[in-house]
Amino acid sequence: MSQETTPRQRAFSGIQPSGLPHIGNYLGAIRNYVALQDSYDAIYCIVDYHALTSTHDPELIRRNTFEMAVGLLALGLDPERCTLFVQSDRPEHTELAWLLSTVTPVSWVERTPSFKEKKRSQPDDVNHALLTYPVLQTADIVIYKATAVPVGKDQAAHLELAREITRAFNARYGDVFPEPAAVFTDSPIILGTDGTNKMSKSLGNTIEVFGEPDEIRRQVMSMVTDTRRILRTDPGRPEICNVCQMHRFFGDDFETIWEGERTARTGCVDTKKLLAERIIDSFAAARERRDELTAQPERVRQVLGDGAARLAPIARGTLAEVRARMGLD
Ligand code: AMP
Ligand code: TRP
Repeated sequence: MSQETTPRQRAFSGIQPSGLPHIGNYLGAIRNYVALQDSYDAIYCIVDYHALTSTHDPELIRRNTFEMAVGLLALGLDPERCTLFVQSDRPEHTELAWLLSTVTPVSWVERTPSFKEKKRSQPDDVNHALLTYPVLQTADIVIYKATAVPVGKDQAAHLELAREITRAFNARYGDVFPEPAAVFTDSPIILGTDGTNKMSKSLGNTIEVFGEPDEIRRQVMSMVTDTRRILRTDPGRPEICNVCQMHRFFGDDFETIWEGERTARTGCVDTKKLLAERIIDSFAAARERRDELTAQPERVRQVLGDGAARLAPIARGTLAEVRARMGLD
């Protein structure tokens, strides 16, 4: 009997070109992008159309898109094992977003938490694309009929909406799209240096993956620990200490570190210093790769161009199918 090989499922994720990734992006999403390369047909997209909802500076968009591509490649995306491309190089996404918007009730997008947040955080720029942002995100995923979407927990609502929009389309026009599902890491929400809010560039509470060693040391030393531990001799509570939590991902001895905190054998400063050095070491190779890639912009552009070209037949194929179903053929 011949051995049947079942085709690999497809994974898709998008990341905004907002400069360089931070540890929250890495632990919450990017390390899963890397992991999924081997078991899925993996597609990763730098979502510059989405970034335009908050940035109107062409030079910044250009620079950040390049920087994010370099960062992702340095962190382990391998163009031989996945497809990396820039969203605006595949304009079919926007056409599909329009078509999907015709089956999306306004109330669904109005109640999206990210839209409400943006209305608060950029009250002078509540542009229409902010409202339709999740419809474009849905198009990004379903144009490749991807089923697995590696993201951090803050994207859960967007993924739920993507599933609803998919169902709404299929119910009206027949089964075209599989329903996508989020894939989380074991740390889907990384807290920032303030120890309370999720790590986020806009809150200024990040630890940079590619920061200079001294910058990483400064960011880690500023981390809020267990606020009830006042004296050096007070026992610590690793379960609620963000520094202790982060030790779980850097090294294999976090239990020993936690025990030191619990018994006050070690103090918060020791534990932070150790964490800073471990973060610096664990990204040292990626930092070197980043420097190499930054010096070869043509190579990076080639990877992105090849990625977009490879996807053209899939994107066009899905769009043709959707257009036919909707009576546009
Ligand atoms: P963004 O930079 O907002 O485009 O996020 C890129 C990816 O990182 C998304 O999948 C987010 O869900 C994820 N992410 C961003 N911040 C965090 C965080 N603090 N903890 C976990 N995942 C995050
Ligand atoms: N909204 C996502 C974020 O801010 C980025 C994104 C755009 C995305 N399109 C996507 C994520 C498709 C997953 C799948 O992080």
